[in-house]
Amino acid sequence: MSLHPIFNIKNGELYVENVRVMDLVEKYGTPLHVISSNRIKQKYGELYSASTEYWKNTLICYAYKANPTLAILKLLHGLGAGAEVVSAGELYAARLIGVKHDKIVFNGVSKSPSELSDAISVQVGLLNIESLTELKLINDIASKLNIQVNLGVRINFDVPVRTHRYISTGMKFHKFGLGVNEAFEAYKLALKSKRIRVRGIHVHIGSQILTVYPFVKASNNLVSFAEKLYETLKLRLDLIDLGGGLGIQYSLEDKTFSPQEYCKNVFPIITEKIGTIFDDESIIILEPGRYLVGDAGILLTRVNYVKQIGDIKWVLVDAGMNDLIRPALYDALHRIVVVNKFDLPSVERYSVSGPICESADVFVRDYPLPKVDIGDILAILDTGAYGISMSSQYNCRPRAPIVMVEGEDVKLIRRRETYADIFMCDLNYR
Ligand SMILES: Cc1ncc(COP(=O)(O)O)c(C=O)c1O
Repeated sequence: MSLHPIFNIKNGELYVENVRVMDLVEKYGTPLHVISSNRIKQKYGELYSASTEYWKNTLICYAYKANPTLAILKLLHGLGAGAEVVSAGELYAARLIGVKHDKIVFNGVSKSPSELSDAISVQVGLLNIESLTELKLINDIASKLNIQVNLGVRINFDVPVRTHRYISTGMKFHKFGLGVNEAFEAYKLALKSKRIRVRGIHVHIGSQILTVYPFVKASNNLVSFAEKLYETLKLRLDLIDLGGGLGIQYSLEDKTFSPQEYCKNVFPIITEKIGTIFDDESIIILEPGRYLVGDAGILLTRVNYVKQIGDIKWVLVDAGMNDLIRPALYDALHRIVVVNKFDLPSVERYSVSGPICESADVFVRDYPLPKVDIGDILAILDTGAYGISMSSQYNCRPRAPIVMVEGEDVKLIRRRETYADIFMCDLNYR
């Protein structure tokens, strides 16, 4: 295996940054999420420098859904990131860690009236709508609260992307955004409202996208649409929100693109129009989630059993689909390394599975590994995004803790849940 960006080898042992992985296992137990703070900083820094090379007013709003652990949110906030939130809960987290209201983008296809009230009361920097009914609701709430709303419209331009069908979001058979005709209608209506400042345009075409071409296509569509807004409604928008979706390398076959390549291909499409159809002081907003945190995280798990049924050799570990659902939900591949045997050749093929009572609870099938024994520690790679955030307590399993590593320092940033945590909201059973 070529060395993963968060790993180092010292004295023949595997380290995350400068911390011996087996020390983490001994101290915190398994399953255990580990996240590399320096990797997040590096990814943020690379995207920030690449984008600001093309446009100084770029705001990177971290998509909280990828991993909303407060210490991670705080780290990104400290680097200058804004927040992309899709629920009142994520908005609460952004406020809790001190993100300024104007660096918050609120998205979501089915926001409740109370979520809209929260977003409007906080005066988020951009509230993107996804239906005409939502626009009316926002107008009513804003009038009642006597607050001006910074409004944007998420448009569905019917852009195909090559990714898992559950994380492609920008085609006309998806629920997301407004079709172009309805979107145009939304802008016209919004301009009539005293409570609405019409400022933004938003596209988000999907997640784990591995080529820049769909982003180029979406940006070209966005510009053509904005040209029409300018020509017919004299509207000059100033918040151009290009969404997230930048992919990472899960398997060695995944060919990703660099932030430089993304910005070089996408940004000029927009910046060329700043000063004409877009306002001179326009802000370009990006909403990456997975790109920032995905490959900064691993999930450590202990082997409980090894057994064979028919031709299949099963490695049964103590993490399950409740800890990481991506393989079960999306058929996603996460590479696996045997931490205490990382330098041994792969001589066997195993299916690695968890303790959950579901046949979907399989991390990898027919996967090459060194000979595995009970007590070995496996690292499931690239679990920083959509790992803990999509986790559950299914089978009454407490969620795993998270430690953040920075150089030689280790911080427990989320404790292991207890059995009492699992039942803390239950009532009326005595
Ligand atoms: C509107 C919006 N923005 C940003 C993201 C983040 O996507 P990713 O983690 O692929 O960058 C998502 C993910 O679903 C999204 O729906």
